[in-house]
Amino acid sequence: MFGKETYINRRKKLAASVSDGIIVFLGNNESPANYSDNTYIFRQDSSFLYYFGLDKPSLAAVMDIDSGGEMIFGDDVDMDDIIWMGPQKSISDQAAEVGVGKTYPFGRLAQFVSEAIAKGRRVHYLPQYRFDNQILLGEITGKGVRNVNEGKSEELIRAVVAQRLVKEPCEIVEIDRACDLGYAMHYTAMMLMRPGMTEQELVGAMEGVVISGGYMTAFPTILSQHGETLHNHLHDKVLQTGKLCVIDAGAEIASHYCSDFTRTLPVGGKFDGRQKDIYTIVSTANSFAAEMSRPGITYREVHLATCRLMLQGLWNVGLVKGDIDEALALGVQGLFMPHGLGHNMGLDVHDMENLGENYVGYDPGQERSRQLGLGSLRMARSLVPGHVITDEPGIYFIPALIEQWKAEGKFSDFVNYAALESYYDFGGIRLEDDLLITNSGCRRLGQKRLPITVEEVETAMAR
Ligand code: GLY
Ligand code: MN
Repeated sequence: MFGKETYINRRKKLAASVSDGIIVFLGNNESPANYSDNTYIFRQDSSFLYYFGLDKPSLAAVMDIDSGGEMIFGDDVDMDDIIWMGPQKSISDQAAEVGVGKTYPFGRLAQFVSEAIAKGRRVHYLPQYRFDNQILLGEITGKGVRNVNEGKSEELIRAVVAQRLVKEPCEIVEIDRACDLGYAMHYTAMMLMRPGMTEQELVGAMEGVVISGGYMTAFPTILSQHGETLHNHLHDKVLQTGKLCVIDAGAEIASHYCSDFTRTLPVGGKFDGRQKDIYTIVSTANSFAAEMSRPGITYREVHLATCRLMLQGLWNVGLVKGDIDEALALGVQGLFMPHGLGHNMGLDVHDMENLGENYVGYDPGQERSRQLGLGSLRMARSLVPGHVITDEPGIYFIPALIEQWKAEGKFSDFVNYAALESYYDFGGIRLEDDLLITNSGCRRLGQKRLPITVEEVETAMAR
């Protein structure tokens, strides 16, 4: 938790950008896995954490924009809770730590909200993604569980997004720490990877690093020799010399700030000639995107310029033909990289994705493309200092997609389908760093950059 001034100032700023009414923030609750007392690891809602800092279940908060009042709703523990969970701070003591003076039992929230509605006051809330909170908010607003998210406040979403997108110095310190832990996870994999191990053994070793040094992973680890499946969570294969293994993993530290890195390693420690060619296109693209990222440019422009560079690289190895700019405009690159260059990152690995991808990643008036690849770009905005984004180009050979485009005769003037046939067992390559936009450009987050060039990776793995 940060000092209370941080939360007081954040709320002051938020209150100044919402016109009137009340704002209701619901914290998260314990979530049963297979019975009530056997829960998934508790994860607080990120906006609740951002404005109210309290990392405990079963809390809610209200900001009264008209009167300037702030209150936290939650129940003090009873003796039964103390027996099972140990002594706990009172709700009022916890609220005081984040600069909130008024507290009420949780049950008063419903009354407070319905009174506000009865008086014709606006009730602002963010879209809900947890079913229990959808039910609760649906009930207390009278909108019903099915319609409650339609009543979300766009004014509040835009205000929260504007604030959370630009990271404060204290947040950057935390993200740098999360990146250092993410580095340790990946470095562990580089040191331990051996042919004959299972993918899952490597996942276990990496996740052990973050669980013992932080909180948990920022998202389920992606680690696979079938890297052409973008988010492959199957780790059941035995590592085989000569295969490429995509590892996309990040740490979430105790303050809940995240990191997100991807490296693609050659099992056995050496790339073959063809792997080197494709790998070098992606590693060059990763560095190129970072060099281009600076205030004033849109990340959509960086995405497209990076795709152009990769198309040129694929042209050089004979997999793409024809005019590169024409190919780029048509979206030929989607065959090789059917995802976006990156996303915002902070308290969530895809920061604020629960508030709506377009509110977060697109400036007002910026249209989202429907093209394969560009359509998945989560961050397209004009960059400003304080943005934290990922830089994650990739090249994949997805046999089913190639076969489909070939059968449709799609872009046959630009794609060398005959040459692609020998790449069906290649897999995929993705390389991801985390960037902070600065006044003059950007810097990579974390103290050290993970080995990324062919030489750096082979040298590291030889240890
Ligand atoms: N690292 C997973 C993702 O960006 O979707
Ligand atoms: Mn990512």
